Amino acid sequence: MIPQDFIQSLLSRVDIVDVIDRRVPLKKAGANYQACCPFHNEKSPSFTVSPTKQFYHCFGCGAHGTAIGFLMEYAGLSYVDAIKALADQAGMVVPESAVPNPVRVQQAAGLLEVMRRAEQYYRQQLKHSAAAIAYLKKRGLTGEIAARFGLGYAPDGWQNLEAVFEQYADPILPEAGLVIVNDAGQRYDRFRDRVMFPIVNQKGDVIGFGGRVMDGGGEPKYLNSPETPLFQKGSELYGLFQARRAIRDAGRVIVVEGYMDVVALAQHGVEYAVATLGTATTAVHIQKLLRHTDEIVFCFDGDSAGQRAAWRALEHSLPMVSDSSRLGFLFLPETHDPDSYVREFGRDGFEAFMAQSVVPLSAYLFKQIAQQHDLTADEGKSAFLKALQPLIAQVVAPGLALMLRKRAAELVQVDMAELAVLWNVKTTRAAVASPARARRPAPASISRQLLRMVLFSPALAQQLSEDLLQQSDNDTQTLREVLAILREYPHLDTAMLIEQGRHQAHAVDIEQCGAEIMDWEADFDLLPEFNLAVEQLRTTSKQSRMQVLAQKSLRDLTEEEKKELQQLR
Ligand code: UTP
Ligand code: MN
Repeated sequence: MIPQDFIQSLLSRVDIVDVIDRRVPLKKAGANYQACCPFHNEKSPSFTVSPTKQFYHCFGCGAHGTAIGFLMEYAGLSYVDAIKALADQAGMVVPESAVPNPVRVQQAAGLLEVMRRAEQYYRQQLKHSAAAIAYLKKRGLTGEIAARFGLGYAPDGWQNLEAVFEQYADPILPEAGLVIVNDAGQRYDRFRDRVMFPIVNQKGDVIGFGGRVMDGGGEPKYLNSPETPLFQKGSELYGLFQARRAIRDAGRVIVVEGYMDVVALAQHGVEYAVATLGTATTAVHIQKLLRHTDEIVFCFDGDSAGQRAAWRALEHSLPMVSDSSRLGFLFLPETHDPDSYVREFGRDGFEAFMAQSVVPLSAYLFKQIAQQHDLTADEGKSAFLKALQPLIAQVVAPGLALMLRKRAAELVQVDMAELAVLWNVKTTRAAVASPARARRPAPASISRQLLRMVLFSPALAQQLSEDLLQQSDNDTQTLREVLAILREYPHLDTAMLIEQGRHQAHAVDIEQCGAEIMDWEADFDLLPEFNLAVEQLRTTSKQSRMQVLAQKSLRDLTEEEKKELQQLR
């Protein structure tokens, strides 16, 4: 662990406005600074940075955090790396002993270095292989695009990597997935005579490879790196690093199935495509993509494998969509994949096809379920509803969930109230009767109000007695956590407090509260409001104590309790 006092002095030295402004140019807007949010696509700025609270918050997508949190989100850094990067900027050195689990950090650094050297080698080798160059040319790729994706070539032969790594027997090579050790203990290169596609993470580090056989080569067609400490297939997307800018510009991302699809689309100017790595689309993939854009188009081959893959992507999408995201499915004609389609029809043809043929997630969901049931018979209708219910129940976006229920009801000619009874949907009625009321957030509890005030002005904590905080609701628990932190470190400011809260059970609530005070002016006089809230708390706690005592019969009360009751009354 990095010592907390180091993190605190780091945060006191860096200015979040500087940190963010270097990466996302900010404009002054009143007491705060603003920009278009780097974490979602928007045209008018709702990303706000508070110099006094040293905290950022996007009123559009809800992203928020401290300077450390910003670097983690924006640059895809780990907690420790974000602290190191900030420390670098501030000319501070992270205390040596503080680096967590040094073995693992060193191992990861070692693996990254190994992957980097392997990639360089494969790239170098591509220049010397006429056959590999001819293969890529035949597939319509220019040298420029090959360079952009770092394409390479692993030559034929069993131990070529001996020329790259002094110690071919170093266990780090099998760990990196570059060398295989067989049962007899013999070591040999995993990738031989293959065109190499490096897989790059969000920071630009090579973390894995896919290797394709050339014409007449053996099986399998694509050989991929195994999962390693650096590389988890279910969370990485091929081409995301290269596509980031284009995704932002286009306002959308296309998810395809293959390495070649991504590269060929980019070759023809469709630069906002990424691919899953021979796995189904996972919730992590979707979450990652939704940080970059609101619109995702899943593009699948027109065959039955494509249909299955699309359905799985849909299942994983349901819990992830928000009311501002648009997810859709694009099915190519049976004989095509994105690579062949864009080669035949070009960028314009591909984009025109997409404009016409994307099926929205909702329509795809209903089409798939409807075609499995006979909607002219009552039995078919009820089975249809039964199949839909668990799927729609996963949708947390309130607007979309409402529209889906409405559509389901229409399709089988029941009304919403009947459907609500059948599905036991409690919110439907309120949402239908009064959309405005449904949207308005519940009023903040006293504890929540106090929590905001303490975050805004941590010194107030000294005037808050913990005896008053006996309830077990979430806000009160969070407040108690914050007070405990301040007891240990009384001089924290808002950002330090939130950062310290990162390690608490209620970290999310603490951060959320930080976002809630973004538009409070720095010279806000909180004291009257604070005193009022404390007074209310005192009254409530008195009342509940009175209730406890009053419930006992007079005979069971001790002398002290009797006195207390009298006082309370
Ligand atoms: P496809 O078989 O659809 O190949 O595999 P493709 O992308 O069209 O490749 P080309 O055009 O023939 O070069 C789609 C994806 O499935 C994974 C790879 O990630 C590939 O990009 N795959 C496929 C494997 O991992 N191994 C294989 O043997 C085949
Ligand atoms: Mn293909």
